[in-house]
Amino acid sequence: MYVQAHELFKRFLAGFEKQPEASIVHSLAESPKLSDFIDALDPNMSLDWSARDFQGLPELRQKILHRTNTAGVCQLENVLVTAGTAEANFLCLSQLVQPHDELIVDVPGWPQPLVLGEAIGAKVKTLTRDENRSWQIDLNQLSDLISNRTKLIFICNPNNPTGQILQKNELEEIIRLADKVGAYVLCDEVYAGLEWNTDELPRVANMYERGISTGSVSKVLGLQGLRLGWLICRDKQLVFDAMVLREDTSEIMNVMGEAIANVALDDPYYDRAIRKARQAGLHNLALLDEFIKNRAELEWQKPAAGLIGFCRLHMNIDSSHLAEQLIKSPYRTFVMPGSAYGYPQYLRLGFGGKADNALEDGLRRLQSCLDKLSKYQ
Ligand SMILES: Cc1ncc(COP(=O)(O)O)c(C=O)c1O
Repeated sequence: MYVQAHELFKRFLAGFEKQPEASIVHSLAESPKLSDFIDALDPNMSLDWSARDFQGLPELRQKILHRTNTAGVCQLENVLVTAGTAEANFLCLSQLVQPHDELIVDVPGWPQPLVLGEAIGAKVKTLTRDENRSWQIDLNQLSDLISNRTKLIFICNPNNPTGQILQKNELEEIIRLADKVGAYVLCDEVYAGLEWNTDELPRVANMYERGISTGSVSKVLGLQGLRLGWLICRDKQLVFDAMVLREDTSEIMNVMGEAIANVALDDPYYDRAIRKARQAGLHNLALLDEFIKNRAELEWQKPAAGLIGFCRLHMNIDSSHLAEQLIKSPYRTFVMPGSAYGYPQYLRLGFGGKADNALEDGLRRLQSCLDKLSKYQ
């Protein structure tokens, strides 16, 4: 299997290479420091793998069930600790989808399943989200796409890049269609927990025996560097198959990541972190929303969850051109063009991090660049 670099990754590589002074791409909550956890860690902890469990520390898996609201339906044996959501997605997709199988992926969405599906030699079908319907999925289109060869439906919920959420009845319909042909439904739920106006979204692992919920401590807790994520599925064979493939990739979970995540998911730490993440996220979202409302060239469906959104560009230039101008002097600002998702007239804007002036700085620079470009429209 040869995996091509997807556009999003290429643009991240190129963007950071230019050493920008500001950016509007940050997509995770402010990251804690090691000192925030140090008192709760055991200095005598062995850095050899504990060998306690190939699925991950049982107490950590219990906390994952609790934090994802899956404890009532799923058990410890239904959780596999992985190197982030990315590895969880990789393991499930690689084990479930074989050459010539069909894979359905929501678009715009997380590019990982698209490139992996193509590398495997599967038939990848795209399920388009429609901006005129608040970026929701067209269930009629899904019904047309599904066939007896459909092995997996991959949905990013909350969606990267639009920040929109599928409602329970929509998930139920997706599951009903999947169940008719025995397909799995994988929901990348990495942004769950940062819903802005609604209760926490329902988890597919609770809703369907072939539902797979993936997630991590990367976004909501800002602990991306720990590489600590999970998959949750009631199908024990799927969890076992994922563990088998993990043996041939990262082999086992990392002990430091597990130890720190085990503290980070504890009540006092978790409650404080989520409060901070929500305050900063709401503050930054309001700032960005106000900015967009004041610019005639920009328009978006305000994100309902997560720390990124997709903004339409009403200009004669596309978002790649704007991004190219913006990264140059005097602006030196990195934005992600929607071209990275195959949507050239959109910008993917990130509003993660602290509620400090970093986002304001990026927006000031974007404002100057838009003012200049607008003169030539
Ligand atoms: C939708 C989505 N899934 C997965 C990932 C990877 O996250 P993790 O750090 O948990 O592997 C990201 C990171 O940007 C993401 O946005």
